[in-house]
Amino acid sequence: MSDASETPIRPTMTAPLTDTFAARLIAWQAEHGRHDLPWQNTRDAYRIWLSEIMLQQTQVATVIPYYERFLVRFPTVDALAAAPQDDVMALWAGLGYYSRARNLHRCAQAVVSQHGGTFPASVEALAELPGIGRSTAAAIAAFAYDAHAAILDGNVKRVLARVFGIDGFPGTPKVEREMWALAEALLPDDHLPAYTQGMMDLGATLCGRGKPRCGECPFETDCAAHATGRERTLPAPKPKKAQPVRFVDVLVVRAGAHVLFEKRPDSGIWGGLWSLPELTPPQDDAPADDAALRARLTEHAACAAQLARAADVAALAPLRPLTHVFTHFKLHLRPWLVTMADDTARRGAAGGMAWFADDAIGAAGLPSPIRRIVDALSPADGQLALTT
Ligand code: ADE
Repeated sequence: MSDASETPIRPTMTAPLTDTFAARLIAWQAEHGRHDLPWQNTRDAYRIWLSEIMLQQTQVATVIPYYERFLVRFPTVDALAAAPQDDVMALWAGLGYYSRARNLHRCAQAVVSQHGGTFPASVEALAELPGIGRSTAAAIAAFAYDAHAAILDGNVKRVLARVFGIDGFPGTPKVEREMWALAEALLPDDHLPAYTQGMMDLGATLCGRGKPRCGECPFETDCAAHATGRERTLPAPKPKKAQPVRFVDVLVVRAGAHVLFEKRPDSGIWGGLWSLPELTPPQDDAPADDAALRARLTEHAACAAQLARAADVAALAPLRPLTHVFTHFKLHLRPWLVTMADDTARRGAAGGMAWFADDAIGAAGLPSPIRRIVDALSPADGQLALTT
């Protein structure tokens, strides 16, 4: 006969963290994770894909209204594939990283033409589609199809770097390879959606970039960063390079109740969006408010607006400059209000230029800083006034 009191006392053997990580993360996610985001509680790969693309480099709170508007306008992948690119860009305007929107549209068209309107279930096939990288493919496959696939976005890299004490900037190939291997080794056999969501939730909440809340973390007692006081220094930051600065003069060319816009080429910043004509070549120095610059601006405005004579430009006035920070450079925008003599100066527009009536500008897909410039102008007694 035996009872519990006869059980031999053995030293406590702690399972390695890699063995218990997934189960603990899933249990934590069930109790403390996010369960009511608009793209959760669905297995519709279209909705999941749309959310994952929007969430690349963008906060949940910013994405939610865009996601909801998008689904109202494009409820299915077929509807999105059939839409004009301008409509897609207009709905994306303000969300940034516009190559995502162009790829989104191309991806929808590929899903319709190559996959009969259903997103493929394998990570490999998903990752062949425009705009879907390895981590996004894994997230879609795990959420929509329970695929046994690891994600590795910025949040997950932060969690892994801290919990497992991984040194080095996670963007370098060596560190990234190590992290992919670890992310795959940690995967559970099942409950992939909860596990994947748990990784995202831990990185976005307790293990955030700013002030990690280690006291609430399921890995507090195992975390290498916490044990060595390196919560704030892991992951290692990107080695710093001087951020280049560009100055660009942009023209708000106004004729009567119309403003001239120029479609940005697909490649480069703001590709596919409508922007303001720029003075080319860009000026790389500080503003030079001299007669020569004014002559160039006037000439360029006349040329952009297809005017016969630069004399049709009635007035030229500087507007408030603004700075927009991109990942790789800083853009100093110097806007100029160019007022044409009257509406008859609006001859035509070619070469990617178009005149937009005031009441059509609101619906156009404009980059955020350009929208700020345009919105700061309001018609008053037939004149434009700076309202900010
Ligand atoms: N970030 C990337 N994908 C996400 C998701 N599905 N939920 C919340 N944040 C995310």
